[in-house]
Order: sequence, then C-alpha cells, then structure tokens
Amino acid sequence: MAGYSLRACKGRMGKRGGRLGFFHYLCIIVFCGSLLALLFFDVIELWVTSLGMSRDEGPHGELLPQRIPPTHSEEYLLMPSTRVCQRAKPYLITFVATAPANRKARQAIRDTWGGEIQVRGQRVMTLFMIGQPLDLVLSKELIEEFKEHGDLIQGRFIDSYGNLTLKTLSMLGWARRFCPQAHYLAKVDDDVMFNPSALLQYLDLRFETAKNLIDLYLGRVHMRVSPHRSPDSKHYMSETAYTGMVFPDYCSGTAYVLSRPALLKLSLAAVAVPLPRPLPPEDVFVGICAHTVGITPTHSPLFSGGPAVPYSRCCYQTMVSVHHTKPQDMVRYWTEMHSTAPCSWLGARTSLGVCKVRALLGTLLGKD
Ligand SMILES: *[C@@H]1O[C@H](CO)[C@@H](O)[C@H](O)[C@H]1NC(C)=O
Repeated sequence: MAGYSLRACKGRMGKRGGRLGFFHYLCIIVFCGSLLALLFFDVIELWVTSLGMSRDEGPHGELLPQRIPPTHSEEYLLMPSTRVCQRAKPYLITFVATAPANRKARQAIRDTWGGEIQVRGQRVMTLFMIGQPLDLVLSKELIEEFKEHGDLIQGRFIDSYGNLTLKTLSMLGWARRFCPQAHYLAKVDDDVMFNPSALLQYLDLRFETAKNLIDLYLGRVHMRVSPHRSPDSKHYMSETAYTGMVFPDYCSGTAYVLSRPALLKLSLAAVAVPLPRPLPPEDVFVGICAHTVGITPTHSPLFSGGPAVPYSRCCYQTMVSVHHTKPQDMVRYWTEMHSTAPCSWLGARTSLGVCKVRALLGTLLGKD
C-alpha cells in the first residue's frame, strides 16, 4: 500500500520537474498516513468495531437462578482426575472443541501450543472436549488415546455439529466445578493456531492492573448477526426459539476467552436460558447467555475469526488465534515461530498490519 503511493508520487514529481510543490507534500502525507495505518491497523480495526457494536444495555437476568446444580463427574464418560487442576493450578485453562475423528488435529495441538505448561511465568493447561462417537471403533480408539494422554473430557451426548452447544455446556460445567483455580478459560476449535503467550501478554497489559478479575468475554466480535429463518439452513432458528431480529453481539466460536467471574455468571444464565431444538450455534448461545447477565463482549483484533491469515513469523507471534490451520501446518509454523528470537516491536507491528491487510483483501476478493 505504502510502496504503491510512493511510486505514484515519483511519477507525479517527474512531471513537475522535482519542484517541491503541493503534490509533493500531499504525497508525503499520504505515504506517512498509509504507513501509520499499516502499523496501527489493529487500533483502527478496534475503533471501527467499537462504532458498530450494539450499545443497548442487555436485560440483567431477572429470572436467573441463585445457584446452579453442581456438576457431577458421572456426567462425563472420560475425564482426567477431579484433582487435576488442584495439582496443576493453571492460570489459564484451554478447552479444545474437537470431534472424535480428529486425532491428527489433537496430536498437532499437543505437539505445539497445547503441550505448553508454563507460559510467561504462568501455568497453563490444555484439555480436549469431545462427545460420543456413533462409531464403536472410534469409541475404542478414544479410550486408548485417553489412556495414553489423559487429556480428554467426554460428555454424555452424541458428538455432532448440531450438538456443539452441548459440548460448550459440558465445558462450562466442568470448568466451574473442577477448575476453580483457573483465572481464565479459553475455548478454541481444533483447527485454530492458538498462542497462549500472546494471550497472556494481552491480558497482562490490559486487565492485570485490576486486583479483582473483571467480567471478561474476549474474542473476535460478530455484530448484528440475524438468525437464519430458513429451515434448510445449518444454523436454522425458528421465531419461537429466538424472537429478536438480531442476536446480541457475540465472540466468534473459533476462539474466545472468559474470566472466572464471567464464567460463573454465564453458567447461571446457561441454566436459565431454555434450549430450543435445533440447538442454537454454540457461539451465539454463549453470546445470548452473556447478554442475559449483562456481560458485553470485548473485541480483540488479535483473534482471527473467519478470514484465513497468511503465515508470516512475526504476525503469528503476535496473533492470539488463527483459524483454518491444518495439523501439519500448525507443527511447521510453530517450529518456525520459535526457531528465532521474538520479533522486534516494529517488526511485529508491520507484519501484523501486512497480514491483516492480506487477510482482509482475501476476504473481499472472496478467496477465503
Ligand atoms: C445430541 O445428543 C443427544 C444426546 O446424546 C442425542 O439424543 C441427539 O440426537 C443429538 N443431536 C444431534 C443433532 O446429533
């Protein structure tokens, strides 16, 4: 972008014989402007998003129960010891929503970011959320995998796309009951390159000054999304299931973060909000629950959401989550990201700006 404007300027100046004229100054301004825009692309994105976000104060949960029935370990077919968090004391616990057949994706995560136990001086832990496969062979394989790694949590529901909301409910229940040690919970899909270090850095910078944890619901915010009213749609929601014209703003389900207090409040709402059939999409459901208890999502440009972000080392060192990453790429990128020293401030800013512009152009040109 900047290079282009510079070239255009040279052309102009050639015609005017190099005299310092109006166009010269204009070009300098345009050039510097583009450079600044590139360096602070995320700040601009944050500002534009904040303009678009709904401002109405949500209902504050008049009908919420005072307490939630406790989660029992019998609700899970497979899970690590009930004391796993007591022992590991994770500051951040990440749950990866994964399908039983995606063994390769789970292994890539274990071999990369999911294998970390200490990041920026904090303990972190990664567990996998699955449901029940219909296929008996897969069921047996899962038990084997669990024996080997001990990092699966299996809920009592059929694992299918339509049941993803049940997976999230089972994650919330497990975290609430068995992991009170975790200050933050992240939910990530198994095709996401997650970066706990970038997340902890972000949280440190923004939220750690407050002594008490605030209600945080962080991710890539989707704004003013309308329910799909056609029964053929994968995300069909009838008028009776959801009466509003648009959903409350919510964080993309590919990766989002909840602070412990937000998790507790959200769980209250999750018990109170009736579950329509077919189930609402997982991320929409979390958004509705958050709205019910008056928690507004916080947007961060460091979460990629939909658009594919082309790989570049400094950009990936800075991003918290990058969607659409294949298992083999995850391992390759991770190795490369950690093979050299962290990028400089300028390197990271430029790379982030360039890869965000490329992701944006990719989306606009429909190459996503
Ligand atoms: C979701 O899980 C429940 C409980 O196992 C099952 O009865 C239901 O058929 C599943 N729904 C879908 C859409 O797979």
